[in-house]
Amino acid sequence: MDGDWARARIAELRREIRRHNDLYYRDAAPVISDQEYDALLRELEELEAAFPEFADPDSPARAVGADHDARFVSAPHSRAMLSLSNSYDPAEVEAFVQRLQKDLDREAIRFTVEPKIDGVAVAVRYRDGALAMALTRGDGRSGDVITANARTLQGLPLNLPDDWATRFPQRGVRAFEVRGEAYFGLGRFRALNEERTVRGLDPFANPRNATAGSLKTLDSAEVAGRGLSVFLYQIFPLDEQDGAEPGLTGGFPDHRREMAVLQELGFPVNPFLRTAESAQGILAILADLEGVRHDLDYQIDGAVIKVDDMRLQAELGFTAKAPRWGLAYKFAAAEAETLLTGVTLQVGRTGVITPVAELEPVELAGTTVGRATLHNWEEIARKDIRVGDRVVVVKGGDIIPKVLRVVADARTGQETSPPAPRACPVCGTPVVRGEGQVALRCPNPLCPAVLAGRLRHFAGRDAADIEGLGGKWVDTFLDLGLVKSPGDLFRLERAVLAALPGWGEKSADRLLASLAQAPERPWSAKLFSLGIPQVGVTTARTLARRFGGIAELAAAGGEELATLEDIGPVVAEAIVEFFASPGGRALVRDLQDVGYFLPGETVERVEDQGGKVAAIEGKTFVLTGTLPTLTRSEAKALIERAGGKVTGTVSRKTDFLLAGDGPGSKLGRAEELGVAVLDEATLRALLAGGD
Ligand code: IVH
Repeated sequence: MDGDWARARIAELRREIRRHNDLYYRDAAPVISDQEYDALLRELEELEAAFPEFADPDSPARAVGADHDARFVSAPHSRAMLSLSNSYDPAEVEAFVQRLQKDLDREAIRFTVEPKIDGVAVAVRYRDGALAMALTRGDGRSGDVITANARTLQGLPLNLPDDWATRFPQRGVRAFEVRGEAYFGLGRFRALNEERTVRGLDPFANPRNATAGSLKTLDSAEVAGRGLSVFLYQIFPLDEQDGAEPGLTGGFPDHRREMAVLQELGFPVNPFLRTAESAQGILAILADLEGVRHDLDYQIDGAVIKVDDMRLQAELGFTAKAPRWGLAYKFAAAEAETLLTGVTLQVGRTGVITPVAELEPVELAGTTVGRATLHNWEEIARKDIRVGDRVVVVKGGDIIPKVLRVVADARTGQETSPPAPRACPVCGTPVVRGEGQVALRCPNPLCPAVLAGRLRHFAGRDAADIEGLGGKWVDTFLDLGLVKSPGDLFRLERAVLAALPGWGEKSADRLLASLAQAPERPWSAKLFSLGIPQVGVTTARTLARRFGGIAELAAAGGEELATLEDIGPVVAEAIVEFFASPGGRALVRDLQDVGYFLPGETVERVEDQGGKVAAIEGKTFVLTGTLPTLTRSEAKALIERAGGKVTGTVSRKTDFLLAGDGPGSKLGRAEELGVAVLDEATLRALLAGGD
């Protein structure tokens, strides 16, 4: 190989990798897959090894990428926070095991295998039994201080049991650090994206991006509302350890004990931890994990294989980037090839038109995929996607499958580029494109697609909460010309409803009862139901605390609005614009006429809104047994904040028994009395607004 070529290629690879590091760590917006990234990194490592004359201590092959964010203070890590070498192939796992057997000069090595959580690494320090500081990985040597946000991680103890120090083999430990991965549960992630969509914000592409974005949010109250979770996998004392080699972990005999100590101290740890003593054994566990991967409520991108014995870990030590005792095994992003049969268009509540790929159905990561998002027309042009193409679809970290690329070799010449629409596919109004925006939009406020979206939003649970108006009925009502706007719902007649195919008097009465209740919905929910751009549940609550009714709010000026907590100039302007627009005014007037908005609403107080949850409010709970991640007092606090009550004994008045491991006699008593029994996951689902 020729030296000039190698020099140029090394420079190019370093530049590329740095750019991808920034995109991944700093912007949380990677544009290539982990596998593609690792291929670049490997090529660079190999070239640097073959051409030592071009070595550079700052090469990205020797340092981990940085997530440092200038809005946060940074602080040095107690020990370097490294990453792991990646592997994608069983042969690499075998090579890893053989290498360690050789380096350690022994046959029998016990390995642990645990899920690799696809989130964001955090380091959290405790001093004298209390959470003191939390850092992101940063560049591995120092990280951003995110203590306030870390305090909101679900299940992460803020204070430890009194005897915490006795868990360490060392005496007199006053401070220690835990490390782990913050992540979003998939249910929480979906709820967060829904809320963002309602607020007119871009949804996060995947839970990992949402986690990175949340940890780097300046307003920790906002972060608390999002419900981030964490799993810890490392713990070590901080006293008298300065200058110690990184990774002389805790003084525990092995990783299994380390995990047990984390759990005993009340830290959330992943329940999947298995051991193997051979490459074959490891591969069998990897296969098991890959098999259950899609049943988990969080995303994992592979498994982490570690030498269990910590003395052996110390003996193996570290390279500049990664421990020699560990290996990440990455599951391949699920990919499948299929035929693109057409491109259809979807019109959302705000009028945005999204192209959707219609596919010949194909199996992908446990589900059948028949459609995939194409995002927008620029994306179609950039990837040169044509109808009739064989395309590769992926379900990587992202929830929604997407078209990765076209199989260009399979082209016959018969494929056709889908034209960008000039008119709304639903109402025919010429489309518009906002300044500086890629999305095409239907500007017609009376477009049936926009109306359907608005009606669904109006009837939603956080809004007017109209039962019996599930998805397809909205379309039926629109098709029959029964309703055009939310106000029309209140003018529906019983006889007409009862005569609808599949309805009858009972269904009609149920819908009418629900509509009759709507004016009694909290003022903030009614405000939210209007679907004002940028106004989500939280902003609606802020407004409902400040204004005494819709007329008062409509009269408010932008400057006054912008003085409110959480409301910036953009949101303030969106509100003013809404109340100035003919469509917004007509909607409000109509809803006043039908008696939905009252002349004076009950101004809400913070206490009224303190996260009350309908399914929990007014209910009596009894707790028993050990919950997987919450302590009793945390569970109690969560229930009380949501408006529930916690008592000590199960009786006829008890609504729910929250049971963990080792529930004892309370469980039997609850079963006798027919009291509903919940586990922690169900409680969380209720807290998140589920029923
Ligand atoms: S052990 C020296 N265990 O993966 C690093 N890491 O590339 C030892 N991760 O930085 C890390 N789940 O952010 C470990 N069960 C697990 C993990 C895990 C996710 C992340 C972590 C780490 C990266 C390694």
